[in-house]
Amino acid sequence: MNILAFAASNSRKSINKALVTYAASLLDQHRVDMLDINEYEMPIYNSDLEEGYGIPDAANRFLDRITQADALLISFAEHNGNYTVAFKNLLDWMSRINTKVYQGKPIVMLSTSPGPGGANSVLSLASDSAHYFGGNVVASLSIPSFFDNFDLENGQLANAELISKLHAVLKKIESA
Ligand SMILES: Cc1cc2nc3c(=O)[nH]c(=O)nc-3n(C[C@H](O)[C@H](O)[C@H](O)COP(=O)(O)O)c2cc1C
Repeated sequence: MNILAFAASNSRKSINKALVTYAASLLDQHRVDMLDINEYEMPIYNSDLEEGYGIPDAANRFLDRITQADALLISFAEHNGNYTVAFKNLLDWMSRINTKVYQGKPIVMLSTSPGPGGANSVLSLASDSAHYFGGNVVASLSIPSFFDNFDLENGQLANAELISKLHAVLKKIESA
């Protein structure tokens, strides 16, 4: 399988990027392409901009990467219970090209935050709304209290129960 993996965060020190990178390393039977959404920067969506200048090429390029993938692995950062502005902007621009942004691909959705909630609000938002965007969410997992449960030095989860939960959700992408 060709799996496209990314963190829905534009932070250079993103903990969701650390998590999704670790999760991707467990999918060693597959080809996993890691994307950094910072490489797809675009202006804040504005219908006047769209009418005047069209859709930024970066939105087309990101959508093409989704088209080329067999499955998606995404880890969502939570800002005020919601998507980060950077991811929402990408989603908005891509939806102007094709509302079915996820193009029917199976998706494993992850999330984490430093707090005990583990960004579960944005994870619910993303998974509950994915069908509007042509997404087929096969499994999701929120990792609470990131800094207590992740060994940043070695780039891996440090909690046996969470490791086994992560393996279980990743199996779903493999059998999708
Ligand atoms: C503007 C802002 C709002 C935030 N809101 C939440 C929140 O609602 N829930 C939460 O668990 N963490 C919240 N956080 C903390 C983030 O979870 C934390 O910054 C985390 O590192 C973001 O993920 P990232 O490192 O992958 O970007 C917020 C952080 C910022 C800067």
